[in-house]
Amino acid sequence: MTETADISARLRDGLRRLAKAVVVVTTQHRSQRYAMAATAVSELSMDPPSLLICVNRTAGLHAPLATGAGFCLNILHSSQAAIAAACSGGLTGEQRFEHGAWANRNGLPCLEGAQANFLCRNERSIDHGTHTIFIGLVEEVLTSGRPDPLVYVDGRYTGVQE
Ligand SMILES: Cc1cc2nc3c(=O)[nH]c(=O)nc-3n(C[C@H](O)[C@H](O)[C@H](O)COP(=O)(O)O)c2cc1C
Repeated sequence: MTETADISARLRDGLRRLAKAVVVVTTQHRSQRYAMAATAVSELSMDPPSLLICVNRTAGLHAPLATGAGFCLNILHSSQAAIAAACSGGLTGEQRFEHGAWANRNGLPCLEGAQANFLCRNERSIDHGTHTIFIGLVEEVLTSGRPDPLVYVDGRYTGVQE
């Protein structure tokens, strides 16, 4: 049987082959805005319309979400890799919002020109290991342009257009 450390390394290696669209999850709590690049995101159900995101407990966004703050899931366009970089450690706090045009919609930071914005009520959460799964009930969806998302695969950003 493979040892746990080996499994973790093998899991990482296997996941390098799982191409994911890149999103920036945002929230606002006590007039403070938060943004985090994420790929551990999934559609969950159409009835009720819901999505889920997996957030590391160490992420700045975790505490506000743990209090039940709603969130917005912004699917990035292939031209928005700089925003993903800014929101994954390149910058911190409010500085993350200096990249891109951000609107306030229903009290949540909403990225203009994103492929789609899903505004979610924070329905419930499930703790698992280092992460928490937050389930969002989708209350509003905005879309922009033709499908051309930013994709993360094998440790780098790319697109799906030829
Ligand atoms: C492509 C990519 C995908 C990521 N996906 C996730 C994710 O799904 N969940 C998560 O908790 N962190 C994810 N991260 C890491 C966070 O973006 C990163 O740790 C961020 O800096 C956390 O915010 P903080 O600095 O405010 O704590 C991802 C990073 C990258 C570059």
